[in-house]
Amino acid sequence: MNSSPLGVDRRIYDADLYDGFNRFTDDLPFYLCLARAARGSVLELCCGTGRLTLPLAGAGVDITGLDFTSSMLERARRKAREARLRIRFVRGDMKAKSLGRKFRLVFIPFNSLQNTYSVEDVERVFRNVRRHLSPGGRFAFDVFNPSVRYIVESERKVQKAKIRFRLPDGRKVSIDERFRYDAARQTARVTWVHHVGGKTFASRLDMRCFYPLELDALLRHNGFSVLRKYGSFDLKPFRSESPKQIFVCAQR
Ligand SMILES: C[S@@+](CC[C@H](N)C(=O)[O-])C[C@H]1O[C@@H](n2cnc3c(N)ncnc32)[C@H](O)[C@@H]1O
Repeated sequence: MNSSPLGVDRRIYDADLYDGFNRFTDDLPFYLCLARAARGSVLELCCGTGRLTLPLAGAGVDITGLDFTSSMLERARRKAREARLRIRFVRGDMKAKSLGRKFRLVFIPFNSLQNTYSVEDVERVFRNVRRHLSPGGRFAFDVFNPSVRYIVESERKVQKAKIRFRLPDGRKVSIDERFRYDAARQTARVTWVHHVGGKTFASRLDMRCFYPLELDALLRHNGFSVLRKYGSFDLKPFRSESPKQIFVCAQR
């Protein structure tokens, strides 16, 4: 088993590559609905290039985005300028960064919490979320629902050309995926082999798995009560086969 340190390589969060294929919006109505219901300022942790931040701001939400990857933030700022949207983007680590103010809604979308590997670090994130929540505020996030079947099947073979798209300059990108599961660290050790134009490079994308009862317990022991838990963005209740775990929490 590969015992190298867990993490995500910088090139996974290259803004061109990221925006090249992360164009889905199935989570937008859910977060927009929460943001409207919050009736106040909203903080998105791990905002990336603003895939959700921009449309939320465009819908009139007073939103701040935080991320620790400068290139992703630069892209988000540029897109906001071009769209003439006023959004505060802040660079920082969601485990520790203090914005010195409180929000009615704090959310962490698109599996981003799965880039946090140890229990201590997850607890740091939860503590920092609590620090930024105003009384009666809501905390929402989504992660995958780990599937043993998916893990077994994914380990069997490299998925060739799992993702394909074109960069703005016309170059073709194709990504092969190799998958190993580290049971001790509950982490999917994903390697993406990028073929970009004539070049090939491999990047590490480690995704910590959160098992459902573990996550319920972590939230409870870190001062949150779970108000809603959905299994998909069409708001089906969470069940065994659900692809996602989607939480809406309040501070206890
Ligand atoms: C999967 S992307 C999500 C981006 C965007 N929210 C979206 O939905 O498209 C994950 C983002 O989380 C950021 N990130 C991961 N861990 C972080 C941390 N501890 N603090 C701040 N940002 C973090 C990465 O830089 C990356 O931009």
